[in-house]
Amino acid sequence: MNKKELRKTILEKRKASADAARDRAIVGNLMASAMYRNARCIMTTISFGDEIDTHGLIERALGGAKTIAVPRCDPSTHTLSVHGIRQFPDDLIPGHYGIPEPGPDTPLLDLHTIDLVIVPGMAFNLEGHRLGYGGGYYDRFLTGLSGRTITVALTPESLILPKLPVETHDQPVHYLVTEKRIIRTHCTGVSH
Ligand SMILES: Nc1ncnc2c1ncn2[C@@H]1O[C@H](COP(=O)(O)OP(=O)(O)OP(=O)(O)O)[C@@H](O)[C@H]1O
Ligand SMILES: [Mg+2]
Repeated sequence: MNKKELRKTILEKRKASADAARDRAIVGNLMASAMYRNARCIMTTISFGDEIDTHGLIERALGGAKTIAVPRCDPSTHTLSVHGIRQFPDDLIPGHYGIPEPGPDTPLLDLHTIDLVIVPGMAFNLEGHRLGYGGGYYDRFLTGLSGRTITVALTPESLILPKLPVETHDQPVHYLVTEKRIIRTHCTGVSH
């Protein structure tokens, strides 16, 4: 199956198997982990629709004096810029693709300051490869991170697939967090 067909299948599967308690367990596993607790600056998307809910994590992290970094999409170049927010959701404005994004007063962050990135995706494999929404935003973004930044994706076990279509530009993540476990992926270059 090609990426486009697989995206359609996965979106249907994700919708049919939505489970809020499972998703809370996934976020709970991340928040209990050393990589989360040690991270001072965490980049995350603002979840929407059937995605695993990141809103509670953002509120708790801000309350715990962590910096929350949120991406802004540039659809003309398919690149992301990353901004620090202090108030959730007040520092956000309606953005592209219906996703809230950091408003004009939020500071642009130096990528070197990001300790942990929560990378979105529809499906994953044990190599840490991901099927995204098809914009190539995160594949471009991840190549620009410094080696010290840890990348992680939140996913139910059911969306870890034995095989995914992978192209040369696709960038894997270091860890997958599921409702059952934290998986250190087989992706190369892990220095953590
Ligand atoms: N580093 C890159 N340089 C140039 N083009 C890229 C790069 N990364 C991805 N692309 C292009 O972006 C398009 C979408 O890529 P892909 O289908 O892998 O998206 P995705 O991984 O689902 O999206 P995202 O990264 O936003 O989650 C492809 O046409 C690909 O050629
Ligand atoms: Mg990709």
